[in-house]
Amino acid sequence: MCGIVGYVGRERCVEVLMEGLRHLEYRGYDSAGLALAVPGADEVEQVKRVGPLKELAEAVSRHNGHFAQVRTGVGHTRWATHGRPTEANAHPHFGGYAGDGANGTVAVVHNGIVENHVELKEELRGRGHTFRSETDTEVIAHLLAERVEAGEPLREALTNTLRRLQGSFAVAAVSVREPEKVVAARHQSPLVVGLGDGENFLASAVQALLGETHRFLFVENGEVVEITDSSARIYTMDGEPVERETFKVDWDPEAVELGGYEDYMLKEIHEQPAALQATLSGRLDADGVVDLSEVVLDLASVERIVVVACGTAYHAGLLGKHAIEKYARIPVEVAVASEYRYADPIGDEKTLVIAISQSGETSDTLAAVQTAREFGGRVLAVTNTQGSLITREADAVLLTKTGPEIAVASTKTFLAQTTILYLVALELARLRGALSKGEALEIGRALRRAPEKVEETLDLLYGRVEEAVELFEEARCALFLGRGASHAAALEGALKLKEISYIPAEGYPAGEMKHGPIALVDERCPVISILGEGLQREKTLSNVEETVARGANVIAVAHKGDTDAGRIARVTLPVPETPEILGALVASVPLQLLAYHVAKDRGLNVDKPRNLAKSVTVE
Ligand code: G6P
Repeated sequence: MCGIVGYVGRERCVEVLMEGLRHLEYRGYDSAGLALAVPGADEVEQVKRVGPLKELAEAVSRHNGHFAQVRTGVGHTRWATHGRPTEANAHPHFGGYAGDGANGTVAVVHNGIVENHVELKEELRGRGHTFRSETDTEVIAHLLAERVEAGEPLREALTNTLRRLQGSFAVAAVSVREPEKVVAARHQSPLVVGLGDGENFLASAVQALLGETHRFLFVENGEVVEITDSSARIYTMDGEPVERETFKVDWDPEAVELGGYEDYMLKEIHEQPAALQATLSGRLDADGVVDLSEVVLDLASVERIVVVACGTAYHAGLLGKHAIEKYARIPVEVAVASEYRYADPIGDEKTLVIAISQSGETSDTLAAVQTAREFGGRVLAVTNTQGSLITREADAVLLTKTGPEIAVASTKTFLAQTTILYLVALELARLRGALSKGEALEIGRALRRAPEKVEETLDLLYGRVEEAVELFEEARCALFLGRGASHAAALEGALKLKEISYIPAEGYPAGEMKHGPIALVDERCPVISILGEGLQREKTLSNVEETVARGANVIAVAHKGDTDAGRIARVTLPVPETPEILGALVASVPLQLLAYHVAKDRGLNVDKPRNLAKSVTVE
């Protein structure tokens, strides 16, 4: 949550910062702001606004080129934790100000939480400081200013300030005393340095800087950074220089643009066939042979698996459990990371911990990994983000190669995470001889068809979802039903709908629905049933009939031409017939589109739903 950027270089500083923030808005959009260090000035310049970035962009444009000479600055986009989304609470925060209207000699932007801010505020008040915001961040600015005013160089002042902080942070600061540099540091929250020629950059994530550079330095916990136009240096807290190899990121800057689509979510839904192709490439050949040699772990000795994840990634874990238990016959526990980290979990060195995180920086997932380390578990990370924190915490990494995902609600990475877990299931099955060679190859060949089948699903659904949207016009809730893997798809469908349309929605095992949720059912609570295959289809159908008998408007996700579905459902969202392993993958696509169109019909911002952030770096 919250995104930060920093820049030192040419006189296009404001432009670079604004562009960086545009690509970080997925991290929060409660407010945004810039702090600019102008040589010779008495105080740091600032501009900040409540609301999405366009408000800040308008405010910047009203400065009529006043910032054209600026070469050094930092920026922030906020997801509020401490203090409401007001202008006073918007970053940057200042220290060292002379009077009421003054900005101050130092400014900071921060992503994270200063846990001991109450004590620090008290202490600072005792020394005569007054505070302008309700944020935890403001204490950093005041502590820093005290040291700068006492004559400490900016980097040393920041280092000494950090020694006082408990909690998590990525923080960047500028000062009018040293206007040619930005200093920054991180502990738990992410921070990268982008390398340019005659200019250098800082950001919370590489996506912010892909239009500028593909060369990065990753900053580790407890390190301090200083960038100028000609240097980017990393130091320990003791001031020792650190050597860090340059990391090249191969994402295409075009990938973070809309490319003709109305929203990122719609674009990302339609990118799914290509995303799955990339994820499978080099890992599954045309004969159905899996190659996961990139996983440098002894998978043959695994006796138990724990998947830890949050949100959509957790649902991918549930689908992975179905496949791993079915094909490899290894018991799998799927745990919500925020629970697992405090659960005193059971495990040993034969436990494989699969940590799934699109961003690779969700703090609960990272903490769950640490917890698993305590019992000796080996960690395989599944992430979409090259060089992210989780890639550095894990013993092995499998990248979902979907390209950047910008919309807050995950779509393409969900399908890719699930696909990766299916590959892991097949690999484990091979190692344990749990499937015959012929069976394994057949399932492998079926999985190879995932991109094609998802493409076919998108074609089948063209123009069909809008019909289902009508059933949501008066809806006060929605119930998603399925059994087995379709139940996991139902959970994800319900999450998508509530995330972006704000309609309360539940995903439930179809057979369990009679034990509670059926009480919700009436004509204003659409029931979305994922019928699935074989016996499950039969059983789900009869559960759905029970809701029809109580006046439910049913939307069925079913094979095209399924006459039973046609009989009970007001609307059928057709999916192609597929081999079993692809059933939940293709069934997820109509649910994504349903959530999308319902939200659009309500005039909502599907890419930036209220109160959410894509990357949750606080507990
Ligand atoms: C947030 C996002 C979700 C995402 C979850 C886990 O809640 O809004 O879309 O599934 O975080 O994020 P991760 O990056 O760990 O997959």
